[in-house]
Amino acid sequence: MTQQSKYKMIYLDNAASTPTDSRVVEAMLPYFNTIYGNPSAIHPMGCHSSDALENARRQVAALINCHPEDIIFTSGGTEADNLALLGLTAASVTKGNHIITSQIEHHAILETCHHLEKKGIQITYLPVDRHGMVAPEAVRDAIRPDTVLVSVMAANNVIGTIQPITEIGAVCREKGVFFHTDAVQLVGHLPVDVEKSQIDLLSLSAHKFNGPKGVGALFARREVPLSPIIFGGGQEEALRSGTENVPGIVGLGMAAEIAGSEITSESARIHDLSLKLINGILNGIPGVRLNGHPENRLPNNINVSIPGIEGEYLTRELGKRGVCVSTGSACSSGTHEAPYVLLATGLERDLANCSIRLSLGKMSDEDSVRQTINILSDVCSRIRAQSVI
Ligand SMILES: Cc1ncc(COP(=O)(O)O)c(C=O)c1O
Repeated sequence: MTQQSKYKMIYLDNAASTPTDSRVVEAMLPYFNTIYGNPSAIHPMGCHSSDALENARRQVAALINCHPEDIIFTSGGTEADNLALLGLTAASVTKGNHIITSQIEHHAILETCHHLEKKGIQITYLPVDRHGMVAPEAVRDAIRPDTVLVSVMAANNVIGTIQPITEIGAVCREKGVFFHTDAVQLVGHLPVDVEKSQIDLLSLSAHKFNGPKGVGALFARREVPLSPIIFGGGQEEALRSGTENVPGIVGLGMAAEIAGSEITSESARIHDLSLKLINGILNGIPGVRLNGHPENRLPNNINVSIPGIEGEYLTRELGKRGVCVSTGSACSSGTHEAPYVLLATGLERDLANCSIRLSLGKMSDEDSVRQTINILSDVCSRIRAQSVI
């Protein structure tokens, strides 16, 4: 028996991953052992699988308002980001070798950029303001004749700040530069329209909006030059070879359809709960600071610094009381580096190290919010009392 088991679990790490919706699981199940044909096969079992893929393509396309044929299924957000950056630069060698991104992107973008730098691609990492916002004017000023791509995330995974992607999209279109956005944290939580925001490429991931893990997609307009990064049987218009993860893709499609139909009510509900949680934390724990943008933030993401209480220690203590939160992004928790996103907003290292992220989701309710406020206040006052002794 684990220490947590005597408490009811309160899961507040939905920015790292969400539970798969039971309707999604139900939609996926037949594709494991009833409709199991390879979608490339031309017999009826294969055709059933390929029909399911095309249905999922339409469901995903409807969520972001694009043509279904512009959706490339991938193994998740990381692969979609890699395909966007590596694929576009490889296909644009004659046009230029400069990319613009921001200092607060997810590792899936930053590490790909570091790899590209070693190959001779020049990267401009734009700074952000104290709320974590990239200025569209800074994007305009950074565009050069050899710029082939601007990649700025739609919403940040650590602090939840939503970027002005429509304004950045307009700058890119005016300057004739392709615009990619890593929308992994935004898709399924807030509406996104690739036409309205003039987005040329967009990454999304199923497990961030109640779909299964290990499946995602890259939206890429037909006119965007893209080379594959995985070679083989030529699936996904030869842009992503490998037998498609049919159950996963069906799950992604269903998650997209559900998110699309519930997005207005669910985002309002989560926003309301978040405000209660933020107010409860700010009023209940002396000295707390809310990180990120005060208004332009994801409804489900709360990042706070609690002076004098190290984030990782607090995360472990909360875990003992059954409350699951995180110290930074899921991929970097477990390491001891201060969250680079918070440092980029100008937050002092001490306060950056004293931060935790609470991210709400479908299972969050008034009761879990109330309990979290009580447990967090209690744990913080105990830690502070111990450190005074
Ligand atoms: C902003 C952002 N981009 C990309 C990823 C990677 O997505 P995946 O886990 O599907 O590879 C994540 C996951 O945390 C993310 O938050």
